Amino acid sequence: MENEKKREVVFSAIQPSGTITLGNYLGAVRNWVAMQEEYDCIYALADLHTITVKQEPAQMRKNIIDAYASIMACGVDVEKSLFFIQSHVHTHAELAWLLSCYTQFGELSRMTQFKDKSAKHADNINAGLFTYPVLMAADILLYQADKVPVGADQKQHIELTRDIAERFNGRYGNVFKVPEGFIPKNGARVMSLQDPSKKMSKSDENVNGCVHLLDTPETIMRKFKRAITDSEACVRYAEGKDGINNLMSIYSAVTGLTFEQIEHDFDGKGYGDFKVAVGEAVVEHLRPIQERYNQLVKDKAYLEECYRKADEIATKISRRTVSKAMKKIGFVL
Ligand code: TYM
Repeated sequence: MENEKKREVVFSAIQPSGTITLGNYLGAVRNWVAMQEEYDCIYALADLHTITVKQEPAQMRKNIIDAYASIMACGVDVEKSLFFIQSHVHTHAELAWLLSCYTQFGELSRMTQFKDKSAKHADNINAGLFTYPVLMAADILLYQADKVPVGADQKQHIELTRDIAERFNGRYGNVFKVPEGFIPKNGARVMSLQDPSKKMSKSDENVNGCVHLLDTPETIMRKFKRAITDSEACVRYAEGKDGINNLMSIYSAVTGLTFEQIEHDFDGKGYGDFKVAVGEAVVEHLRPIQERYNQLVKDKAYLEECYRKADEIATKISRRTVSKAMKKIGFVL
């Protein structure tokens, strides 16, 4: 992390609620890995965010450790990047409170994720679900991040983060860096294999809609073979062919082939062949990640050593931002 030349700062986070999905990987985590060479990267497991929906304590503890190992298995290298657990770094909750007093009720009411989640969890529309984007803004602004690699579904939250930062800076001078979202061209919105009008999500009621990073090869193949397509039986990217468009995007993301190359390669072939090819390409892509995961998850002591070290550094870096913000607001430090 200590370079003579000042590099731009990247920050991103993922909720450790259940296993990581192919959507998380293609939309975000893959870029986290790629950006490590060029940027000072800071990544977090956003465990505080997960309790906006009900969690079972023992399962939650397991999910956090599994997610930590999974993200490392994807290629986040703790020698190059900071990778910590959000709840261990107390500045996140602190800055979230401060920023909540600079965020308007109306702004939070417009967040589509809040509307979706409150419809889905109608029995638990808690205040945390509503103020969730403020905690996310705090996550990002604490580290003076320049770029935030995320999938397209987080775009609105990044825009709100920018608005909050600009408002605060407008009042108190330059306290926060105004960050930019970094959304990939391909893979920004991986859709459900069972309903390609909805994003792929671990909370999908239909288990075949969502591919998990740690699914067995057989499960992955089954999910792709059952993917919903259309009746045209022609592999081409076109409006109205959401299922095929989604499969083509996934195939392109894991093989590096362009849509033209894919259309050419599958010219005259049916959807059955194509689905098998996509499944196999995903299995191959995930194989080394699964192997690394199986190694890492066995060594809990090593994982703990990694996150404790990162937690400490993240606390130090982020404390500077909180102190600066508090001083500007008028607190006696
Ligand atoms: P989360 O945990 O839902 O998702 C983690 C990342 O995966 C991306 N993603 C997808 N990308 C493409 N296709 C999909 N189907 C798909 N599903 C998820 C998300 O866009 C995200 O980048 N609020 C965040 C976590 C967070 C965060 C932050 C992110 C907390 N603090 C600060 C960035 C910066 C979330 O719930 O992501």
